[in-house]
Amino acid sequence: MDQIFYWPQAASSIASRIDTLFNVLNAMALFFIILIVGCLVYFVVKYRRGTNADRSNPPDESLTLEIAWTGIPILLCIAIFGFSTWTYLQVMRAPKDAKPIYVVAKQWMWKIQHPQGRWEMNELHVPLGQDVRLIMTSEDVIHSFYVPDFRVKQDVVPGRYASLWFKATKVGAHHLFCAEYCGTKHSGMVGTVYVMEPADYQKWLHEGNAGGTLAKQGEQLFRELGCGGCHGPGSNVRAPLLDGVYNNPVPLQEPGGSTKVIIGDERYIHDSIVNPEQEVAAGYKPIMPSFRGQLDEGKVRLLIEYIKSLSTANGGRAGGIKEVEPPAASKAETAPLASRPQARPDTAPLAGATTDVNVRTSGQE
Ligand code: CUA
Repeated sequence: MDQIFYWPQAASSIASRIDTLFNVLNAMALFFIILIVGCLVYFVVKYRRGTNADRSNPPDESLTLEIAWTGIPILLCIAIFGFSTWTYLQVMRAPKDAKPIYVVAKQWMWKIQHPQGRWEMNELHVPLGQDVRLIMTSEDVIHSFYVPDFRVKQDVVPGRYASLWFKATKVGAHHLFCAEYCGTKHSGMVGTVYVMEPADYQKWLHEGNAGGTLAKQGEQLFRELGCGGCHGPGSNVRAPLLDGVYNNPVPLQEPGGSTKVIIGDERYIHDSIVNPEQEVAAGYKPIMPSFRGQLDEGKVRLLIEYIKSLSTANGGRAGGIKEVEPPAASKAETAPLASRPQARPDTAPLAGATTDVNVRTSGQE
């Protein structure tokens, strides 16, 4: 069924389910159109003026009919609601071990960063049969990442991480479109998703990849920007060390003097770089300069990956924000990893978001 003339091919694990929903809705609409128009034509002809149809004793009530025309549509609506909700949840909830790939949209191109370090423009290479999760943000206006063959579409909004996942089921090239009007060259903001055999994909990932992983590139950038001057061991400036931040509780200074504990997720790390005064770690002064305008989203991503790697590389050393040169005792207090809450980078708004941005849910254009 995947080659009906007006359809793109179905090339992801959820495509057939979306098509089923679409088919069922179409079939039902067609059924009722034929039923209603059929009855209309039949009665118009039968009771037209001058025919000797039987017009005596018209029925004025029928409980059976009323129950039928109320009950059947209710059951149909509930069935559609159930099926589409189940499908929606499948589409929205990425499997836990999905491979992350980072996407930055800007007028008018897609920049893709693979965690292993390779990056590409207007092309996305993914392995066949593996869950892939795109973590996307925009440099300027709202764009929308749309791959018709996969039946997935997600708006990409500045100042926010949006997430989209799929499992490709057909090797080959698939169209990628921007599906949200984003300026003069919106119609040219297109690309190609290449689905490759996993072995070919691994080979592709590692060829032409001189810079090392994103975390490695992030470490380099961290050094170039001089971040270690404050955040490194032995610094004279009182700033927190960063090696326990990711996925750990971070106490924040509240205006009233109280503290609030949040989880140091990707959103928090992002915002601490571009808008550091917004959430200041408890016990520290708001002295960090903002890097907004100096770093594009791709570079902020490198720093995030580096900071994330600090929390995993050392076996997840002591949780939470730590001071530079902490007293020896504090090194021992490690929180068990299992008890740490999971970061949810996919929905939280980021600092630096244009406040008048028109946030829409996906799939409406
Ligand atoms: Cu980007 Cu339309």
